[in-house]
Amino acid sequence: MYISRDIVDKIYQSLDIVEVVSDYVNLQKSGKDYKACCPFHNERTPSFFVSPAKGIFKCFGCGKGGDAVTFVMEIEGISYGEALRQLAQKYKIEIPESDNKKPSDDDIQKQNEIDALYIAMQFAKNFYYEQLLYTDEGKAIGLSYLKERGFNEQTIKTFELGYANSDWDTFYRTAIKKGYNPEILEKAGLVQKKETKNDYYDRFRERIMFPIHNISGKVIAFGARALKTHKDTPKYLNSPETALYHKSKVLYGLFQAKKSILQKDECLLVEGYADAISLHQAGISNVVASLGTSLTHEQVRLIRRFTHNVCILYDGDEAGLNAALRGVDILLEEGLSLKVVWLPQNEDPDSFLQKYGTNAMLTYIQENTQDFIKFKTKYLLKNAEDDPFKRGEAIRQVVSSIVKIPDIIQRNVFFKECSLLFGIEEDVLIREGNKILNKELKQKPDQEALSELLQNNPDDFLDQKANAFSSVYHQEYEAMRLLLCYADYPISQDTIFGQYLLKELQGLQFENPIFQEIFEIFARNLNEGRLLSHHDFMKMESREIRQAVIDLITEKYKLSPNWEEKAGIIVEKKDEKLNRVAYEAIMRMKWKAVQRMIKENQKKLEKANNEEEQDHFLQIHIQLKSIEQEIAKALGNVLR
Ligand code: UTP
Ligand code: MN
Repeated sequence: MYISRDIVDKIYQSLDIVEVVSDYVNLQKSGKDYKACCPFHNERTPSFFVSPAKGIFKCFGCGKGGDAVTFVMEIEGISYGEALRQLAQKYKIEIPESDNKKPSDDDIQKQNEIDALYIAMQFAKNFYYEQLLYTDEGKAIGLSYLKERGFNEQTIKTFELGYANSDWDTFYRTAIKKGYNPEILEKAGLVQKKETKNDYYDRFRERIMFPIHNISGKVIAFGARALKTHKDTPKYLNSPETALYHKSKVLYGLFQAKKSILQKDECLLVEGYADAISLHQAGISNVVASLGTSLTHEQVRLIRRFTHNVCILYDGDEAGLNAALRGVDILLEEGLSLKVVWLPQNEDPDSFLQKYGTNAMLTYIQENTQDFIKFKTKYLLKNAEDDPFKRGEAIRQVVSSIVKIPDIIQRNVFFKECSLLFGIEEDVLIREGNKILNKELKQKPDQEALSELLQNNPDDFLDQKANAFSSVYHQEYEAMRLLLCYADYPISQDTIFGQYLLKELQGLQFENPIFQEIFEIFARNLNEGRLLSHHDFMKMESREIRQAVIDLITEKYKLSPNWEEKAGIIVEKKDEKLNRVAYEAIMRMKWKAVQRMIKENQKKLEKANNEEEQDHFLQIHIQLKSIEQEIAKALGNVLR
């Protein structure tokens, strides 16, 4: 699946990194740049920056950085080609037929497997959708079921619902005819191999299909509901875990809800497919479903990209209550504020809406929203009644939730409120909390504690990192950085800086192989009359090159002010200083190189077998020493 250079360029020209990142992360303006809590690691203070001017993102906590395409690759876990394709779609750039062939046998074999799985899932989604709307069985059984449940056409379209008919292999046969590879279909969880023959049959039959989308709207799995409930088949049959689908990292409906969650700065959390869809149809669209399992940290972090406020909407029966009490400490731990609405016994949001309508739902939510910790306290207290042991246990349980809250001020507010509810002094609760914290801290492995420390003090960490730069690396780094940032800068009437650097550096070997590679590419192109900039390098296939380039042009940026002075030598007055800085950087590199050569030569000298050889190496030594002298003179006293 080849995308031509023109199209790649067009995509790069159209995209706006702030727009691209905003599809996934709630960015806050910060001067000329934007910042947010990093979507790639767990943190509470933002160290993730996006620079629209440079077209890059960088997290100073975990080190991830790149341009818009890298960002999409990382966050979606997809290939470079797939990321480009996705961005092309976002910016309505058509990839011509020759670039984007219908999958032929050959293509399907060759494709990156992930890409192939996405294509298969998309095909399946369209297939089931068409079955629902345009086949007799689909209309008679599937569509009428959905209509009966009150789902309208727009909703069917928004959630891309579908129908799998009752035959054994309609989907499989159709897919094969279109050239899809059976192994890919199997890996996508769409078909299953027959035990006896080398043949396959459909996983989903006679079911309503609920596609599960990733955050950018691609189908990665299906939930499939049986129309009648048999004893021997589950009500919902879901896709297995595949290379695309990791159940613990997905929330149903997030793609459809994310805009609304951002706008309302709140996310409603429900349990089922139908609940999310019904609420959305009723205009309450900031809703995602956990799909019946207890929440994971990954899921909570997905939500946290868009809002810090979660409200759970659960069935008010004992099972729902217990599930909620067990599962949601994770939300508190991740720093989210949590509210709950208990629906009347035996109602889920979907059934409530069908029975009482949208307005009743809105009123109910408004009147019954309570803070989670207060709710938990009251609930446990009520159950404990006057039993002192049960009361003690209840207090411990509530306090263990409170200590999960990372924000100290908020934590203290809850201690105060619970002290009133329990009729117990605040200090006693806080002491109990410290006990629990201490115990948990002791259980935490060192590695985790360390990474937490780093996340909380990114500046300290980065200062250390800056100091740890080895001197060779530092020289090379400076030279490389200058090359990437100022290659087109005129230093005399007929020379630009890039040419000058090239001439000076020719023949020198960078110790860092990536730098060497970048330098060679740069040199090759310049010799052919093309001047490459960091933008060109960021479009290259090699991930290492892109990462190195990003690091080079961002390392000096947004670090502690201290470090800015140390390394960002030419941040402002580049006109005055560029020549000197460049000259120095090159001389330093040369000096390092000469030293290295002297050392190597000395080794050879020691091992020389005869006088003739000795003489030869001695001559070289003398030459090298005089070069060293020259460079040292040129640099004055700078070198030590
Ligand atoms: P529910 O049993 O509450 O189903 O399970 P529901 O969402 O209300 O579905 P309807 O209204 O009867 O159609 C809640 C969620 O648990 C998961 C599904 O994600 C479901 O939406 N579940 C349930 C399964 O994965 N498998 C099952 O067999 C049942
Ligand atoms: Mn239901």
